[in-house]
Amino acid sequence: MSETLIEVVENAGIVRLTISRPKALNALNSAVLAELDSVLAELEARDDLRAVLITGAGEKSFVAGADIAEMRDKTPEQARAFARQALATVKRLETLPVPTVALVNGFCLGGGCELALACDWAVASDNAIFGQPEVLLGVIPGFGGTQRLPRRVGPAMALDLCTTGRKIDASEALRIGLVNRVMPQAELEAYVEELTKQLGGNGPRAVRATKQAIHDGMDQDLDSALSLENALFAFCFAGDEQTEGMSAFVEKRKPDF
Ligand code: CAA
Repeated sequence: MSETLIEVVENAGIVRLTISRPKALNALNSAVLAELDSVLAELEARDDLRAVLITGAGEKSFVAGADIAEMRDKTPEQARAFARQALATVKRLETLPVPTVALVNGFCLGGGCELALACDWAVASDNAIFGQPEVLLGVIPGFGGTQRLPRRVGPAMALDLCTTGRKIDASEALRIGLVNRVMPQAELEAYVEELTKQLGGNGPRAVRATKQAIHDGMDQDLDSALSLENALFAFCFAGDEQTEGMSAFVEKRKPDF
Protein backbone atom coordinates (compact mmCIF):
# COMPACT_ATOMS: atom_id res chain seq x y z
CA MET A 1 0.00 0.00 0.00
CA SER A 2 1.33 3.46 -0.83
CA GLU A 3 2.13 5.92 1.97
CA THR A 4 -0.50 8.55 2.89
CA LEU A 5 0.97 11.96 2.17
CA ILE A 6 -2.07 14.05 3.07
CA GLU A 7 -3.69 13.15 6.37
CA VAL A 8 -7.33 14.15 6.62
CA VAL A 9 -9.05 14.60 9.98
CA GLU A 10 -12.56 15.95 10.26
CA ASN A 11 -14.80 17.26 13.00
CA ALA A 12 -18.25 18.75 12.31
CA GLY A 13 -17.45 20.00 8.81
CA ILE A 14 -14.06 21.39 9.83
CA VAL A 15 -11.37 19.52 7.93
CA ARG A 16 -7.71 19.49 8.84
CA LEU A 17 -5.24 18.51 6.12
CA THR A 18 -1.69 17.64 7.14
CA ILE A 19 1.00 17.41 4.49
CA SER A 20 3.06 14.55 5.77
CA ARG A 21 6.52 14.10 4.34
CA PRO A 22 8.53 15.13 7.38
CA LYS A 23 11.86 13.64 6.26
CA ALA A 24 11.89 16.14 3.38
CA LEU A 25 10.41 18.94 5.53
CA ASN A 26 7.09 18.32 3.74
CA ALA A 27 8.47 19.41 0.35
CA LEU A 28 5.90 19.25 -2.42
CA ASN A 29 6.71 16.51 -4.92
CA SER A 30 4.37 15.22 -7.63
CA ALA A 31 2.93 12.54 -5.37
CA VAL A 32 2.05 15.04 -2.59
CA LEU A 33 0.54 17.46 -5.09
CA ALA A 34 -1.53 14.73 -6.76
CA GLU A 35 -2.89 13.50 -3.43
CA LEU A 36 -3.64 17.05 -2.29
CA ASP A 37 -5.47 17.70 -5.54
CA SER A 38 -7.72 14.68 -5.18
CA VAL A 39 -8.50 15.48 -1.52
CA LEU A 40 -9.41 19.07 -2.49
CA ALA A 41 -11.56 17.84 -5.39
CA GLU A 42 -13.64 15.80 -2.94
CA LEU A 43 -13.91 18.67 -0.48
CA GLU A 44 -14.99 21.32 -2.99
CA ALA A 45 -18.13 19.33 -3.84
CA ARG A 46 -19.38 19.12 -0.25
CA ASP A 47 -22.26 21.27 1.01
CA ASP A 48 -21.60 20.46 4.66
CA LEU A 49 -18.02 21.76 4.68
CA ARG A 50 -17.45 24.68 7.11
CA ALA A 51 -13.71 25.41 7.13
CA VAL A 52 -10.43 23.84 6.01
CA LEU A 53 -7.16 23.98 7.86
CA ILE A 54 -3.91 23.05 6.14
CA THR A 55 -0.64 22.38 7.92
CA GLY A 56 2.59 20.40 7.70
CA ALA A 57 3.57 17.43 9.84
CA GLY A 58 5.91 18.19 12.73
CA GLU A 59 7.00 21.45 14.29
CA LYS A 60 10.03 22.09 12.09
CA SER A 61 8.33 22.81 8.81
CA PHE A 62 5.03 23.76 7.23
CA VAL A 63 6.36 23.12 3.70
CA ALA A 64 9.99 23.79 2.65
CA GLY A 65 9.02 24.35 -0.98
CA ALA A 66 8.61 22.35 -4.14
CA ASP A 67 10.81 19.26 -4.25
CA ILE A 68 14.19 20.43 -5.51
CA ALA A 69 15.58 16.94 -6.14
CA GLU A 70 12.58 16.12 -8.32
CA MET A 71 12.81 19.41 -10.24
CA ARG A 72 16.55 19.35 -10.84
CA ASP A 73 16.58 17.40 -14.09
CA LYS A 74 13.37 18.69 -15.63
CA THR A 75 13.33 20.10 -19.14
CA PRO A 76 11.51 23.41 -19.68
CA GLU A 77 8.48 21.50 -20.98
CA GLN A 78 8.45 19.19 -17.97
CA ALA A 79 8.88 22.15 -15.59
CA ARG A 80 5.98 23.94 -17.25
CA ALA A 81 3.73 20.88 -16.91
CA PHE A 82 4.78 20.30 -13.27
CA ALA A 83 4.08 23.91 -12.29
CA ARG A 84 0.87 24.08 -14.32
CA GLN A 85 -0.51 21.09 -12.44
CA ALA A 86 0.57 22.62 -9.12
CA LEU A 87 -0.99 25.96 -10.06
CA ALA A 88 -4.30 24.16 -10.64
CA THR A 89 -4.08 22.46 -7.23
CA VAL A 90 -3.22 25.72 -5.46
CA LYS A 91 -6.13 27.39 -7.26
CA ARG A 92 -8.40 24.58 -6.06
CA LEU A 93 -7.33 25.37 -2.50
CA GLU A 94 -7.85 29.10 -3.04
CA THR A 95 -11.34 28.66 -4.48
CA LEU A 96 -12.70 26.26 -1.89
CA PRO A 97 -16.03 27.88 -1.00
CA VAL A 98 -15.31 27.95 2.76
CA PRO A 99 -12.64 29.79 4.79
CA THR A 100 -9.22 28.19 4.64
CA VAL A 101 -6.52 28.58 7.26
CA ALA A 102 -2.80 27.88 6.82
CA LEU A 103 -1.37 26.80 10.17
CA VAL A 104 2.33 27.54 9.78
CA ASN A 105 5.02 25.96 11.92
CA GLY A 106 8.68 26.42 11.03
CA PHE A 107 9.75 26.66 7.39
CA CYS A 108 7.27 28.13 4.94
CA LEU A 109 9.41 28.56 1.85
CA GLY A 110 8.92 28.70 -1.90
CA GLY A 111 5.97 26.49 -2.81
CA GLY A 112 5.05 26.36 0.90
CA CYS A 113 4.69 30.12 1.05
CA GLU A 114 2.69 29.94 -2.19
CA LEU A 115 0.35 27.40 -0.61
CA ALA A 116 -0.14 29.64 2.43
CA LEU A 117 -0.82 32.62 0.13
CA ALA A 118 -3.74 30.73 -1.39
CA CYS A 119 -5.41 30.45 2.04
CA ASP A 120 -7.74 33.06 3.49
CA TRP A 121 -5.99 33.01 6.82
CA ALA A 122 -2.40 32.38 7.78
CA VAL A 123 -1.68 31.76 11.44
CA ALA A 124 2.00 31.28 12.27
CA SER A 125 3.92 30.06 15.26
CA ASP A 126 6.68 32.34 16.47
CA ASN A 127 9.28 29.91 15.03
CA ALA A 128 7.95 30.33 11.47
CA ILE A 129 10.31 31.35 8.67
CA PHE A 130 8.97 32.64 5.37
CA GLY A 131 10.60 33.27 2.04
CA GLN A 132 10.58 32.89 -1.72
CA PRO A 133 14.16 31.64 -2.16
CA GLU A 134 13.78 30.48 -5.77
CA VAL A 135 16.36 32.93 -7.18
CA LEU A 136 18.96 31.18 -5.02
CA LEU A 137 18.20 28.08 -7.12
CA GLY A 138 18.21 29.92 -10.43
CA VAL A 139 14.43 29.96 -10.91
CA ILE A 140 11.41 32.08 -10.04
CA PRO A 141 8.40 31.13 -7.90
CA GLY A 142 6.30 28.75 -9.96
CA PHE A 143 3.21 28.03 -7.84
CA GLY A 144 1.73 31.54 -8.02
CA GLY A 145 4.14 33.49 -5.78
CA THR A 146 4.96 36.24 -8.27
CA GLN A 147 1.23 37.04 -8.49
CA ARG A 148 -0.30 36.30 -5.09
CA LEU A 149 2.56 37.71 -3.00
CA PRO A 150 2.33 41.25 -4.46
CA ARG A 151 -1.45 41.11 -4.10
CA ARG A 152 -0.98 40.25 -0.41
CA VAL A 153 1.98 42.44 0.61
CA GLY A 154 2.31 44.94 -2.25
CA PRO A 155 4.71 44.87 -5.23
CA ALA A 156 7.66 46.56 -3.49
CA MET A 157 7.86 44.00 -0.68
CA ALA A 158 7.15 41.12 -3.09
CA LEU A 159 10.04 42.26 -5.29
CA ASP A 160 12.23 42.59 -2.21
CA LEU A 161 11.51 39.02 -1.09
CA CYS A 162 11.55 37.39 -4.53
CA THR A 163 14.68 39.08 -5.88
CA THR A 164 16.81 38.66 -2.74
CA GLY A 165 15.42 35.27 -1.72
CA ARG A 166 15.90 36.40 1.88
CA LYS A 167 14.06 34.66 4.69
CA ILE A 168 11.92 36.59 7.14
CA ASP A 169 10.74 35.67 10.62
CA ALA A 170 7.15 35.51 11.82
CA SER A 171 7.12 39.04 13.25
CA GLU A 172 8.21 40.54 9.91
CA ALA A 173 5.64 38.36 8.12
CA LEU A 174 2.99 39.81 10.43
CA ARG A 175 4.21 43.37 9.93
CA ILE A 176 4.03 43.15 6.12
CA GLY A 177 0.61 41.46 6.18
CA LEU A 178 1.73 38.05 4.97
CA VAL A 179 0.10 36.40 7.99
CA ASN A 180 -2.91 37.34 10.11
CA ARG A 181 -1.64 36.20 13.54
CA VAL A 182 1.53 35.02 15.20
CA MET A 183 1.26 32.89 18.33
CA PRO A 184 3.74 31.23 20.67
CA GLN A 185 4.13 27.65 19.51
CA ALA A 186 2.51 26.29 22.70
CA GLU A 187 -0.66 28.34 22.14
CA LEU A 188 -1.03 27.83 18.41
CA GLU A 189 -3.22 24.70 18.41
CA ALA A 190 -5.67 26.08 20.97
CA TYR A 191 -5.94 29.35 19.06
CA VAL A 192 -6.57 27.64 15.74
CA GLU A 193 -9.15 25.32 17.28
CA GLU A 194 -11.01 28.36 18.61
CA LEU A 195 -10.71 30.16 15.26
CA THR A 196 -12.04 27.26 13.20
CA LYS A 197 -14.84 26.73 15.71
CA GLN A 198 -15.75 30.39 15.34
CA LEU A 199 -15.60 30.26 11.53
CA GLY A 200 -17.58 27.00 11.53
CA GLY A 201 -20.20 28.34 13.94
CA ASN A 202 -21.21 31.36 11.86
CA GLY A 203 -24.00 31.18 9.28
CA PRO A 204 -22.50 28.86 6.63
CA ARG A 205 -24.28 30.43 3.66
CA ALA A 206 -23.27 33.90 4.82
CA VAL A 207 -19.66 32.83 5.33
CA ARG A 208 -19.53 31.30 1.82
CA ALA A 209 -21.18 34.40 0.33
CA THR A 210 -18.66 36.65 2.11
CA LYS A 211 -15.76 34.69 0.67
CA GLN A 212 -17.28 34.76 -2.80
CA ALA A 213 -17.93 38.52 -2.62
CA ILE A 214 -14.39 39.34 -1.53
CA HIS A 215 -12.57 36.88 -3.79
CA ASP A 216 -14.59 37.46 -6.96
CA GLY A 217 -15.02 41.19 -6.29
CA MET A 218 -11.27 41.77 -6.07
CA ASP A 219 -10.95 40.77 -9.74
CA GLN A 220 -13.68 43.20 -10.88
CA ASP A 221 -14.05 46.96 -11.23
CA LEU A 222 -15.70 48.59 -8.20
CA ASP A 223 -19.18 49.01 -9.69
CA SER A 224 -19.36 45.38 -10.86
CA ALA A 225 -18.04 44.22 -7.50
CA LEU A 226 -20.65 46.28 -5.64
CA SER A 227 -23.38 44.71 -7.82
CA LEU A 228 -21.99 41.31 -6.89
CA GLU A 229 -22.18 42.24 -3.21
CA ASN A 230 -25.75 43.44 -3.68
CA ALA A 231 -26.79 40.16 -5.34
CA LEU A 232 -25.15 38.09 -2.61
CA PHE A 233 -26.70 40.25 0.13
CA ALA A 234 -30.14 39.52 -1.36
CA PHE A 235 -29.23 35.83 -1.71
CA CYS A 236 -28.69 35.68 2.07
CA PHE A 237 -32.34 36.62 2.57
CA ALA A 238 -33.49 33.66 0.48
CA GLY A 239 -32.91 30.94 3.07
CA ASP A 240 -33.64 30.08 6.71
CA GLU A 241 -30.26 31.25 7.92
CA GLN A 242 -31.00 34.96 7.90
CA THR A 243 -34.36 34.40 9.61
CA GLU A 244 -32.64 32.37 12.32
CA GLY A 245 -29.77 34.86 12.73
CA MET A 246 -32.00 37.90 13.03
CA SER A 247 -34.67 36.13 15.13
CA ALA A 248 -31.96 35.01 17.55
CA PHE A 249 -30.81 38.61 17.92
CA VAL A 250 -34.34 39.88 18.56
CA GLU A 251 -35.09 37.02 20.96
CA LYS A 252 -31.78 37.54 22.80
CA ARG A 253 -30.48 33.99 22.23
CA LYS A 254 -27.64 32.36 20.29
CA PRO A 255 -28.43 31.50 16.67
CA ASP A 256 -28.49 27.84 15.71
CA PHE A 257 -27.07 27.61 12.18
N1 CAA B 1 13.00 19.86 -1.74
C1 CAA B 1 13.47 18.63 -1.50
N2 CAA B 1 14.02 18.26 -0.32
C2 CAA B 1 14.08 19.19 0.65
C3 CAA B 1 13.59 20.49 0.47
C4 CAA B 1 13.02 20.83 -0.81
N3 CAA B 1 12.47 22.01 -1.05
N4 CAA B 1 13.80 21.19 1.61
C5 CAA B 1 14.40 20.34 2.47
N5 CAA B 1 14.56 19.14 1.90
C6 CAA B 1 15.17 17.94 2.48
C7 CAA B 1 16.69 18.05 2.53
O1 CAA B 1 17.25 17.72 1.30
C8 CAA B 1 17.02 17.07 3.65
O2 CAA B 1 16.96 15.78 3.12
P1 CAA B 1 18.10 14.69 3.54
O3 CAA B 1 17.92 14.53 5.04
O4 CAA B 1 17.72 13.48 2.76
O5 CAA B 1 19.40 15.31 3.19
C9 CAA B 1 15.85 17.22 4.60
O6 CAA B 1 14.79 17.82 3.84
C10 CAA B 1 16.16 18.13 5.78
O7 CAA B 1 16.62 19.37 5.24
P2 CAA B 1 18.01 20.05 5.73
O8 CAA B 1 18.97 19.00 6.16
O9 CAA B 1 18.44 20.98 4.65
O10 CAA B 1 17.49 20.84 7.01
P3 CAA B 1 18.09 22.19 7.61
O11 CAA B 1 17.39 22.39 8.91
O12 CAA B 1 19.56 22.18 7.60
O13 CAA B 1 17.61 23.33 6.57
C11 CAA B 1 16.05 24.49 5.16
C12 CAA B 1 16.26 23.59 6.40
C13 CAA B 1 16.66 25.88 5.40
C14 CAA B 1 14.54 24.62 4.93
C15 CAA B 1 16.73 23.83 3.94
O14 CAA B 1 16.30 22.48 3.86
C16 CAA B 1 16.39 24.49 2.64
O15 CAA B 1 16.94 25.52 2.33
N6 CAA B 1 15.47 23.86 1.87
C17 CAA B 1 15.11 24.37 0.54
C18 CAA B 1 14.21 25.57 0.64
C19 CAA B 1 13.92 26.09 -0.73
O16 CAA B 1 14.79 26.52 -1.46
N7 CAA B 1 12.63 26.07 -1.10
C20 CAA B 1 12.19 26.52 -2.40
C21 CAA B 1 12.14 25.37 -3.34
S1 CAA B 1 11.88 25.87 -5.01
C22 CAA B 1 10.24 26.14 -5.11
O17 CAA B 1 9.48 25.99 -4.18
C23 CAA B 1 9.81 26.58 -6.48
C24 CAA B 1 8.40 26.93 -6.63
O18 CAA B 1 7.96 28.03 -6.44
C25 CAA B 1 7.51 25.94 -7.12
